Amino acid sequence: MAEQTLFIVKPDAVARKLVGQIIARFESKGFKILKLKMFTFTRPQAEEFYSVHNTKPFFGELVEFITSGPVVAAVIEGNNAVATTRIMIGATKSFEAAPGSIRGDFGLGFSDNVIHASDSKESFEKEARVVFQ
Ligand code: CMP
Repeated sequence: MAEQTLFIVKPDAVARKLVGQIIARFESKGFKILKLKMFTFTRPQAEEFYSVHNTKPFFGELVEFITSGPVVAAVIEGNNAVATTRIMIGATKSFEAAPGSIRGDFGLGFSDNVIHASDSKESFEKEARVVFQ
């Protein structure tokens, strides 16, 4: 069943010129790109985007990193989009992510872990609102 999700190519991956390769993986997989936007998060926008983490000890570091440079956000559509995209991006700790996944192939970091993707339909709706409205 067609479903939508959102991913963000993070500042580390944009700086390393990986945007094209990362978007190509989603196109090759069969997803349709519905929205695409390059921008730099403001601090209030980042705090809202990551509000589920605002009590965590790493929240400050997370906001600092995501506001540190331009990102590329996309809304994509396809079968089982939320879960399939999470499989494609790999484990949160890039240095442990499986080869073949995006983090596994392109990164070594934790805050700087190449890509973010919504972890549920509810997260997608909230994150898409914060980024695209
Ligand atoms: P992301 O998928 O963007 O969702 C929240 C982010 O918080 C996650 O990727 C990591 O980059 C970051 N993160 C999660 N846990 C930690 C942690 N313990 N230390 C630093 N960053 C973290």
